[in-house]
Amino acid sequence: MRSTAIFNLLLSSSSLLEAASIQRAADGASVDLSKATGDAKFLASGWIYGFPDNGTSVDTRIPANYITDIKFRATRAGGAQTPTRGWIEGQKSYLGRFQSTLSNYRTARKYGGTFILLVHDLWGADGSSIPLYPGDKNDWAQTDAFLKQLVSDIKANDMLDGLVLDIWNEPDIDLFWPRPWDQYLSYYVRAHNYFKSQLPTTLISGPSSANAPGVNDAKWKAWLKSVSGNKTIPDIYSWHQIGDWQREPDRTIPDFKTIKAVHNMPDLPIDINEYAWPSEQNPANTVFYIAQLERYNLRGLRANWGSGSGLHDTLANLVGTTDKKTYYPNGEWQLYKYYANMVGTRVATTASADRKFDVFATKSGNSVKIIAGTRSVKAAYNITITGLSSVGFPDSGSLSARVYRFDWAGANGKVGAPVDLGTKTFTYSGGKVTFNVDPATNSTAYAYEFTGKS
Ligand SMILES: *[C@@H]1O[C@H](CO)[C@@H](O)[C@H](O)[C@H]1NC(C)=O
Ligand SMILES: *[C@@H]1O[C@H](CO)[C@@H](O)[C@H](O)[C@H]1NC(C)=O
Ligand SMILES: *[C@@H]1O[C@H](CO)[C@@H](O)[C@H](O)[C@H]1NC(C)=O
Ligand SMILES: *[C@@H]1O[C@H](CO)[C@@H](O)[C@H](O)[C@H]1NC(C)=O
Repeated sequence: MRSTAIFNLLLSSSSLLEAASIQRAADGASVDLSKATGDAKFLASGWIYGFPDNGTSVDTRIPANYITDIKFRATRAGGAQTPTRGWIEGQKSYLGRFQSTLSNYRTARKYGGTFILLVHDLWGADGSSIPLYPGDKNDWAQTDAFLKQLVSDIKANDMLDGLVLDIWNEPDIDLFWPRPWDQYLSYYVRAHNYFKSQLPTTLISGPSSANAPGVNDAKWKAWLKSVSGNKTIPDIYSWHQIGDWQREPDRTIPDFKTIKAVHNMPDLPIDINEYAWPSEQNPANTVFYIAQLERYNLRGLRANWGSGSGLHDTLANLVGTTDKKTYYPNGEWQLYKYYANMVGTRVATTASADRKFDVFATKSGNSVKIIAGTRSVKAAYNITITGLSSVGFPDSGSLSARVYRFDWAGANGKVGAPVDLGTKTFTYSGGKVTFNVDPATNSTAYAYEFTGKS
């Protein structure tokens, strides 16, 4: 949502910390074809909001292929920035937001996606100034009535399949929680316990913080202590990775493990339920995020920088429209489409030492696909690929790879299929080949395909 922009900008300094204990190739990224890391599941193919509203019904305005071709997995919504203000203005005002939520839920389910319900947006805390937060003056009557109404509406509208309840969005920044942290912790525990008492099998995610975990983050540490002490650990841990000042999973995952271990908390699925700053939404940066998310088995949802009705459209800037009737793909959509066809088994990769270049790779039989992209910089990097014998190549020889280029013309710029740059032949030895990637722009991504003999 547009309004988060101002705040995230202010957070840009907390970054320089600890180097992760991860091995990176000295002069670029690496791919080890001999090390499988699990089936490809398109973990990064999600976004927040992005579906048009249609009363309480499924909306089919955006042609189905734009959603299915990229193997949509999850969305996250709760009626934000719709004409009514939510629970803070009474039940009628909440109803408008609930209807938008229900419409988006039904659209997500039509396409087989998980729906992550944004409780704070139904309350009305969508980034604008509101008079009342849960637990103000230690009065929980409105909160309890709200949660009761929400659970009742979820049940009455048969919304339990594929549902995740996200307890509060970005509580760690004033834009969404301008109240003491203890009050948030009390709300969290209360909401968790109520949801679990009423909907025991429905998954809960939290804390969905704006700041990724860090070993010195007092709010994160207090949250972990409180949910552990109260036995209100969510089913899915969640946070946002927005901008390079928030570092990247190569560093935030080890930090999370460190602070979580203090309370012996379990390993659970993790949702990065908003990723990428606006300037990071282009093919090169998207590869970088995909690579990081896939490396740690993180389900990812793209951040959505639209506002008002723009928030509820264009699959979070993957397709363009001029009339809200016809839609066309942009350059990022083409990248997600390619990614959706990276089927088979994922293989181990590492980012470049400067953390500005990363790769994601899969193999299916002896066919290999690799995508490569930088994090906002235009600079040349190498990809060192080892384990060639595991996909049918002799120890030394020559290898022909087909190369594709992913162009970017802005969120509203129509872009066709990736540009086929033909095949390039590499001589190699020691079961290891190096590709040099010298991107045309700071937003251009590349794909490489090659197949060994079976
Ligand atoms: C890529 O690797 C080659 C050797 O294969 C080396 O000469 C070159 O400097 C490397 N390029 C970069 C950008 O690291
Ligand atoms: C909106 O929902 C109605 C059913 O309530 C349906 O007939 C119509 O096709 C939907 N419109 C779009 C654009 O999906
Ligand atoms: C449980 O949560 C409350 C509210 O945040 C907190 O004050 C309390 O310290 C927590 N209890 C434990 C044992 O952590
Ligand atoms: C990427 O390149 C464009 C065009 O040259 C430039 O406007 C933009 O500032 C660059 N982005 C970054 C993050 O450096």
